[in-house]
Parts: sequence; structure tokens; C-alpha cells
Amino acid sequence: MLPTIAWRGRSVVMIDQRKLPGQETYVRCRTYIQVAQAIEKMVIRGAPAIGIAAAYGLVLGAMAMGAESDRSLDKDFDKVYGRLERTRPTARNLFWALERMRAAYERARPHGLRAVRTALLDEAKAIEREDAETNRAIGRHGQALLRDGWTVLTHCNAGALATAEYGTALGVIRAAAADGKRIRVYADETRPFLQGARLTVWELDKDGIPVVLITDSMAGWFMRRGEVQAVVVGADRIARNGDTANKIGTYSLAVLAKENGVPFYVAAPLSTVDATIPDGGGIPIEERKPDEVREVGGRLLTLPYAEVRNPAFDVTPASYITAIITERGVVRPPFDKGLVP
Ligand code: MRU
Repeated sequence: MLPTIAWRGRSVVMIDQRKLPGQETYVRCRTYIQVAQAIEKMVIRGAPAIGIAAAYGLVLGAMAMGAESDRSLDKDFDKVYGRLERTRPTARNLFWALERMRAAYERARPHGLRAVRTALLDEAKAIEREDAETNRAIGRHGQALLRDGWTVLTHCNAGALATAEYGTALGVIRAAAADGKRIRVYADETRPFLQGARLTVWELDKDGIPVVLITDSMAGWFMRRGEVQAVVVGADRIARNGDTANKIGTYSLAVLAKENGVPFYVAAPLSTVDATIPDGGGIPIEERKPDEVREVGGRLLTLPYAEVRNPAFDVTPASYITAIITERGVVRPPFDKGLVP
């Protein structure tokens, strides 16, 4: 299985996703600031993986704290927490993981700084381990929706690289393949950061799952020609009613799928569900730097001063989603009942 992120004695090591597939290199973070920067620059990306990285970032922060008093410890903790929280606003799993870490901190704090450090490391490892288990469960539930011989279209990378391991959308595809179904994947290239072209193709190729790279604008045409039997994507944040934020371009795919009678599935852990937000209107959408659109791999495509928009995510209304696949099972509309306990 691919090593997305690993705790290695007072540091956290991540495969550098900006360099794939050309180079398999690793980045070692020894401070929480380095972790925050790795998340911002997308050395590591994908909502669950961002959450795991932030959890380890808090551990690194705690290792550098000196506790003169409870008050100063709280102040130091809040500073580290705040820096990690400001990295990527859309991924619900980031905030979910940080909230879990805060609860672990509060339980351990009466026992002193050493206890806090141990508790935070244990919690971060638990978040990572549970994510791996969750993805296997999503895969088991979701694979039942796919039939032998199908071509499945996916967008961005919701695979092992975006999680602790196995993946959500790619976990469903992996589980179907492991069940003996011959599944072929159409991978959208996913402009502007090209997670599909660079990461999904690489990951599936490593697993021996047949994958065909298409540009984002080809998806509708292939659906119309009957070449796609299902769309499976991941999610960054799901509102209570099922409205789903995911990589920019997902909404267009969902509209095209509905128009062409193709089922549209979202695969995500329940940690992606934001029960405080009633619908997609409340989901914060990250706007990234214009150079991501102006350039590909550092090469300018347009005028250096061309005006650009670069929302990293869009929101697909629940009415376009056939089902949401979680670790607890396949949830069908109305989604609120199945998503929020
Ligand atoms: O900007 P990214 O690459 O972090 O966006 C990732 C996605 O949109 C994924 O589909 C989502 O986080 C789910 S990952 C299991």
C-alpha cells in the first residue's frame, strides 16, 4: 500500500504529491509550521489525509512546548491549533481531526505536559488507523453498487494518497476489483492541479486496475455515448442535507450524469459530514493562487498577468447525488436521516 504519511520518531514524513508521478520523494516535517506549509502547498492533500497531517502537526507543536503554567500551555496549544486550522478551509476532516485532538488534550492536561504529548500522539495514530479501517468499510459497501465490466468515471484523487490508505472513491473501485469484477476507470485529469492525471492514474496503474486518462471536458461526451456506467467521487465537506463540496468540476459531472441517466455516487467517511451546516450554501470554498491556473508544472500557459478565478471546490446539490457511500453503509435520499445520527 502507498505510504501517504507516516510518523517517524519526532517527525512526520509525507510522500511529496506535487512531484508525482515523475519523482517519488518524501518530505520530513519536524515542526508544526512545516506541516501547515505542507498542507497549504499540497505536498499532502485530500480531506482525510489533511486531517491526519494536522493531527501529527499538533503532536509536533506539543513536543516543542515548555509548560510554565497551565495558562501558558493553553496559549501555546491554541497558537499551534490556530495555525493548522488556517491551512485549508473546505476540508471538514481537518477541523474534525483537530477537534478530536483538542478533546484528547483536555483529557490529558490535568496530568501535565508529558501526558499531553503521549495522549496527542496516541490520538493522531488512532485517527490514522481508523481512517484506514473506515476506507475498507466504504469499499465493502460501495463495491456492491458496481457491476462486472463497468467503466467508472472518477474526478480528482480520492485514493490512498488522499487518505491514510486505500482511499474512498478509489477504495470502492479497489474493493470491486478485489471481488473479481473487471472495472475500467476513466480518470478526469482535474484542472488546474491535475490530481487525476498525476495521482489517480499513478495509483491505479500501480494496482493493475485499467485506467484511461481523459480531459475534464470529455466526460459529458463519453456519458452520452454510453461509455460510462457510474461516476464515483470523494468529498471534502457534506452538509446535513447531502449537498457535497468536492474538487472543482464535480458539480458539472453530476449534472452531466443526471442528464445522461448515469448514477452519481459520493464515497466519504462520516467525518466529512458537517452536521452544523444545513445545506451547501454554508460550506466555505477555498480560492487558491491564480498561478495554479496560469501555469502547468511551472510553465506559463497564458499572459503572466491574465485575470484568473481559482475556486478549488464546488458544491453539488444533493438532488444530483444517487447515493452517498459511508463506512456505515449506502445512504440514499433523503440524506439527512442516514448521515446525521
Ligand atoms: O485540493 P485537494 O486535492 O485536496 O482536493 C481533494 C478532493 O477534492 C478529494 O476528492 C476529496 O478531498 C476527497 S479525498 C478522499
